[in-house]
Amino acid sequence: MNTISFAAQILSCYLLLLLQLQTTMASAAPVFTGVFDHGSHGVTLVKIDEAPRCPSAKTKGAPPKPLLVAAPCDAGEYPVVVFLHGYLANNSFYSQLFEHVASHGFVVVGPQLYTISGPDTTDEINAAAAVINWLAGGGLAGGNLPPGVAADSTKLTISGHSRGGKVAFALSLNHANTSLPPIAALVAVDPVDGMAAGKQTPPPILTYKPNSLHVASPAMVIGTGLGGLPRGRLFPPCAPPGVSHDDFYGELSSSPARCHFVARDYGHTDMMDDVTPGVKGIATRAVCLSGAGGRRPMRRFVGGAMVAFVKRWVEGSPELLEGIRRRPEMAPVVLSVVEFSDEEAMAPNQ
Ligand SMILES: *[C@@H]1O[C@H](CO)[C@@H](O)[C@H](O)[C@H]1NC(C)=O
Ligand SMILES: *[C@@H]1O[C@H](CO)[C@@H](O)[C@H](O)[C@H]1NC(C)=O
Repeated sequence: MNTISFAAQILSCYLLLLLQLQTTMASAAPVFTGVFDHGSHGVTLVKIDEAPRCPSAKTKGAPPKPLLVAAPCDAGEYPVVVFLHGYLANNSFYSQLFEHVASHGFVVVGPQLYTISGPDTTDEINAAAAVINWLAGGGLAGGNLPPGVAADSTKLTISGHSRGGKVAFALSLNHANTSLPPIAALVAVDPVDGMAAGKQTPPPILTYKPNSLHVASPAMVIGTGLGGLPRGRLFPPCAPPGVSHDDFYGELSSSPARCHFVARDYGHTDMMDDVTPGVKGIATRAVCLSGAGGRRPMRRFVGGAMVAFVKRWVEGSPELLEGIRRRPEMAPVVLSVVEFSDEEAMAPNQ
């Protein structure tokens, strides 16, 4: 071997090393940001009809409420994430969020709890509980999922948006008229407990005493910066201060773990689908103030934060949530609040 080819070899080895180093460095820092994109699984969306009043042999085993289920297409057993819709909303308005979460290896179950409802939330809490018990009893095993796909309802997360966030809290605090299987994690997305402090809808969940909500599981509360502002003079805010995310988070007892994110520039319904049809769908834009950048960034953030939180507390993989905690500026939305457990709030982007 002559000197020149020897030198060339050393040089190419060195270049290769440099290249490898660069790629590992480039991928090491923001690898958690993949959580804000579609995950590795293809996803199927299935609608399952509710059991009729007079069940026949054919409808035996149908759920107590209509369901929209998002499941990975690849064979495997996946933890269950129940997601409860907001006031007068359709479960279908969250289909893109469901697909995002399911693509990271979850079976997402969105019941349609009612079509019309007054202020009282009691029936909704009990209906959600009935769906959860149906899931825990193996309800999804009846051929509703793709071949080889199973829902592991021993790893159960309860989540919800707006009034559905309140219902998720209510279930975690044992307000249902039936007992529930253990809940592994709670996620409330811009939860709302009524019109204003002192004007809560029954049953009230907030108590206005710090650390009074003893939720047994880890809990994440996501808020919106624009949810507390009115859309115009005609409408009240969709998530009025005094009954919204700050209050829910503030009243959570600190054990076992809790976190709070606020998307500064987004509104109450901005995690919904780009297209929400019908009168109710139009209302989600007409009544609530929205961010300027369309719904995609907020949906990516909420989906990613949900995946990171459930991976942390249900599956024992802390890296993704830790990534968001250390580098909140990498999130697809500006976060004005990033609080974990009993640490002081920090506002990284203000
Ligand atoms: C629970 O409440 C719902 C209505 O909110 C009712 O239909 C159901 O029968 C109740 N179940 C029990 C066990 O009391
Ligand atoms: C909303 O849900 C109801 C009942 O589940 C259904 O009849 C209606 O078509 C849905 N609307 C939209 C826009 O999906």
